[in-house]
Order: sequence, then C-alpha cells, then structure tokens
Amino acid sequence: MKLRRTRSLVGYWHEGDFVLEDYLAAKSSDVDEDNAVVVDRQTLALLEEFEDWIDLESVAERLPGIDPVSVRDAAEALVEAGLLRTPEAAEREDLLAAEWANWSQEARFFHFGTKDAVYIGDDLEHRREAAAVALAAGPPPAIFKSYPDAPRVRLPRAFLPLREDFTEVLLARRTHRIFREEAVSLRQLSTVLHFAFAPMYFVDAVEYGTLQMRTSPGGGARHEIECYVGVLDVEGVAPGLYHYNGEQHSLELIDASFDQSTVDRLSFGQEMAINAGFVCFLTALVKRAAYKYRHPRTLRMIMLDAGHLGQTFDLVSTAAGLGPFQTAAFRDSEVEAALGLDGITETALYLLGAGRPAGPTDGHPIDMRVAAQPT
Ligand SMILES: Cc1cc2nc3c(=O)[nH]c(=O)nc-3n(C[C@H](O)[C@H](O)[C@H](O)COP(=O)(O)O)c2cc1C
Repeated sequence: MKLRRTRSLVGYWHEGDFVLEDYLAAKSSDVDEDNAVVVDRQTLALLEEFEDWIDLESVAERLPGIDPVSVRDAAEALVEAGLLRTPEAAEREDLLAAEWANWSQEARFFHFGTKDAVYIGDDLEHRREAAAVALAAGPPPAIFKSYPDAPRVRLPRAFLPLREDFTEVLLARRTHRIFREEAVSLRQLSTVLHFAFAPMYFVDAVEYGTLQMRTSPGGGARHEIECYVGVLDVEGVAPGLYHYNGEQHSLELIDASFDQSTVDRLSFGQEMAINAGFVCFLTALVKRAAYKYRHPRTLRMIMLDAGHLGQTFDLVSTAAGLGPFQTAAFRDSEVEAALGLDGITETALYLLGAGRPAGPTDGHPIDMRVAAQPT
C-alpha cells in the first residue's frame, strides 16, 4: 500500500499537547470540530518517513529495531486519523496544491481552517445564551474610540448635497491614480468621512448596549473598523496623521509631522497615495468584533466589513467630485507603528485615499488600452 504524509497539516501546541490539524478534512457545520489530533515524538518520526509516496512495506522493513507489524498497525492508525493518505484520498489535497500553489500554508490554514463554522442561531434563546457568555467576560467594549487629550479639528457638518444620479455615480467610480495639484476642500473631506465612516443611526441591541449604524453593513453592527486620516493637501486642515472620531465628527491629531514622505514610505512609493489630498488607513479594533463573535471565521467578516467601507468611500468620494483609490499594499507594521498601535489590539487592513482627479471622470477605464482593431 502506497502512503504519503497528508499535505494539509499544521502543527501547534494546544493545552500542553502537540497536535496536527488537517485543515482540509471535511467538517460539519452542525458540530464544532477542528480535526486536530494529538501526536507524540514517535508518531512525528514515523510521519517523516512518508515525505512522498512510499510503499508501507519498505518503510516497515527499513526502520531498525522496530517490529514491522507494529509499523504497519501504526501507519494504518495514521491513515484512519487522517495524517497519512492513500492515493485515492489525496485527490483534494493535490487539487489544492495545484490551484493554490502561489499561496502559502498560512492562507490555506486560515481559509479552510475557518470554514464550516457552526451557526449559533439567531432565535431569542440562542441570542441570550451568547450574550450571557459575552457579558460574563466583561462589559461590551466602547463603540467609539477617541483620543480625548489630542488637539482636534472639528469638521463642519455642512455636507455636500450629493444629489448626483445614483447610476451616474456607480458608472463614474474608477480607481484614480493621478491627481491635480489642487487641495481637496474641507467640505469634500468632511462629506466623505461623514457618509463613509460616521454613525447615521443608533440601535438598542439590548445586552450588547447601543450600537452604531453606518451607511455600510458591518457584521452584527459591531463596526470594529476605525479610520485614520493622513491629511496631505486639504484646504483648512494642517497636514498630519489624525484619528477620525465619528461620534464627534472630528479629526484627532496623532502626528503633525506626517507628510508625503511618510506616505511614500508606508505605501511602497505608490504615486496615487503620495499625490492624494488625503489617505485613510482602515484598522480593525479586534475586541469590538471578538467580544460577540468567538469563532475565528470572524476574521473573514472583518475583512468583508473593510471591503464594504472601501466601496462606500469610493462612491461617496466620486459623488463629492473626488477621485478615489484603494490598495492592500502597504507596510502593515510600519503603519501600525505610525498610528501608535500594537498591531494586535488593533491591526491595519486597508489603505484608501482620494484627490482631485487629473484624468477623465466619466467612468471610462483610465490608463487602460482598448483594442482599436479586432484582435
Ligand atoms: C483590495 C484592492 C486592492 C487594490 N490594490 C491596488 C494597488 O495596490 N495598486 C493599484 O494601483 N490599484 C489597486 N487596486 C485597484 C484595482 O487595480 C482596480 O480596482 C481595478 O484595476 C479595476 O479598476 P476600477 O477600480 O477603476 O474599476 C486595488 C483594488 C482593490 C479592490
């Protein structure tokens, strides 16, 4: 019988035991399970023998001083536990190795390891149970972050009317990468921050307290995404790095020395970020989501939340006459350091920005060649 070590294994210490988890193994969405198996040194040593397809008999014969029968029994137990594969059972991991070849174990473990989460149910009984568990761990985290002692810019609540036809706005949204050397107006900045990141309404979430509602959806209305604004060229606002306080609609100063050279460094020199009127670093304040949602799948939810905010930011910026952009390429740890964050309590996720567009604003593809001849 030919056998090979399972390719989708990740090992870690769990409550004092070393376990191997097969993140690709089928899981139920009805029972919480993770396919982790406790292994000892002998098992690890035996698994090492099966680096690639090998006949079980040849392994049984070549291991010195070990009874071949016990090797065969152990290998069969490892097949049963999912740590060794037969060729018939390896099709899915071969497909994964081929299709996800450009991505590392980390991406695979995150995606497959957090799939098929058990739905906790949204009936009253389940909700109360989940809330009781959350509350037992402490009071709900604050729904707003603030820097009470920071110098602040109180933004005007004189928002631009944004009366453009919705279809026009949808069609006009493009990623802009070149900007005019003309400051973004204070009203434009104020309008974009308000409609993209500020609370529009509040709801009573009973055990979870009062929650904010934004123009974008957010899992469980946790709204764990915070926005930090790097002001570069905005009429009436000194350049600097600020926290956007959505409750107060103000900018709280974190670093007055923030300028184009800072953005240059943090964004790997991306021109669109350096020449923008302002950039927005979106972060996730982990506890705000983790307080209620205790499954690692919540990380997926947080990333989806950031994506929603990005699209809303793009559409509002477009309607306000700006050219928006977004990028996932930035120096995560340096952004967190610049924001004074530890990267654990709160972690950087997304970089957005906008300026006065230099190119066309009709929504036609920018900087992309369109075939003039049939090809
Ligand atoms: C998550 C995400 C990351 C992106 N990262 C970059 C980037 O690093 N650099 C860049 O020039 N554009 C980036 N873009 C913009 C895309 O290239 C752009 O959306 C795509 O070409 C389609 O063009 P459109 O946005 O004008 O429709 C990103 C877009 C998204 C949604």
